[in-house]
Amino acid sequence: MILVTGATGNVGRNVVDLLVRAGADVRATSRDPESLDLPAEVDVRRADLTDPKTFEQAFQGVEKVFLYTQPSAIDGIMAAAKSAGVEHAVLLSSLAVAGPDPDHWVARWHRAAEEAIERSGLAWTFVRPGLFAANALSWAQSVKAGVPVRLHYAHSYVSAIHERDIAEVSTCALLQDGHAGAKYHITGGDSITQAEQVALIGKAIGRDLAFEDVTGDDVRVELRRRFEPRLRELIRSGVIEPAAAPEIVETRIRYYVAALEGPVEIDGTVEEVLGKPARTFAEWAVDHQADFAN
Ligand SMILES: NC(=O)c1ccc[n+]([C@@H]2O[C@H](COP(=O)([O-])OP(=O)(O)OC[C@H]3O[C@@H](n4cnc5c(N)ncnc54)[C@H](OP(=O)(O)O)[C@@H]3O)[C@@H](O)[C@H]2O)c1
Repeated sequence: MILVTGATGNVGRNVVDLLVRAGADVRATSRDPESLDLPAEVDVRRADLTDPKTFEQAFQGVEKVFLYTQPSAIDGIMAAAKSAGVEHAVLLSSLAVAGPDPDHWVARWHRAAEEAIERSGLAWTFVRPGLFAANALSWAQSVKAGVPVRLHYAHSYVSAIHERDIAEVSTCALLQDGHAGAKYHITGGDSITQAEQVALIGKAIGRDLAFEDVTGDDVRVELRRRFEPRLRELIRSGVIEPAAAPEIVETRIRYYVAALEGPVEIDGTVEEVLGKPARTFAEWAVDHQADFAN
């Protein structure tokens, strides 16, 4: 039996789909199981990664688990996994862990989970994706409304990874031997600017799309507003000090400005693991036409 947490998420839902297609016994968890629309053969349970008790039943009979990063109760979750006989955890982590800024909260958040899993004594695989292509879904409202998409530093380069590639790499680690101890750094199949991403979405839905290039203080104001609820939660859970919050916005701005210089590095790990190259953003846009079309 394989347990998939985060089964309502972009990645988790694809992991469930791939495992079912491969004929595996699958259990899926969510904090809101009624919201899951999965094939009848999937055993659905309610569980919350901040509350290890909710996993005591969910882990019964499970050999491998696909975990979302939630470090607040991770030691308790791993203890519950170990006492239920779970053998191997595949963690959806982040490339930030190995990035140039190890003190960044995204790096610390995922590293805390990785370290707890290493301590647990279970076999593990860390899947460390870069930026998700699915982040572009936040542009759908503007595209549908026919208004320009607001892009922070529109001409900065990204290498956005398709959630299906993240799920395929994770599923390999869940179904095959030989992935224990691996840290898979995975990126998309190409590196293009955000403005080019918008153009590719337009091409996929057959419309020219406009964008607005937002820079400098305008980005600062928008990011402060957007990050506020998340920063409050990170301060409350002790991941960052209150004084560190403004620096998080500045780090993001420095990242955008550096990415104006040219294409970012493409990693070959997806091809090494799957035997086929990572999908491009153009492929992601075609797969998501329905999310952007009226
Ligand atoms: N976006 C990026 O560019 C990027 C890049 C690298 C890594 N990541 C990492 O990838 C993950 C997001 O992946 P995604 O886009 O697939 O997520 P998503 O679509 O936003 O879904 C989030 C999932 O996390 C689950 N979850 C959240 N809190 C939970 C809790 N307390 N207990 C159990 N499940 C919980 C939710 O499950 P329920 O609500 O159903 O319980 C949901 O299925 C994050 O860990 C993020 O740091 C993201």
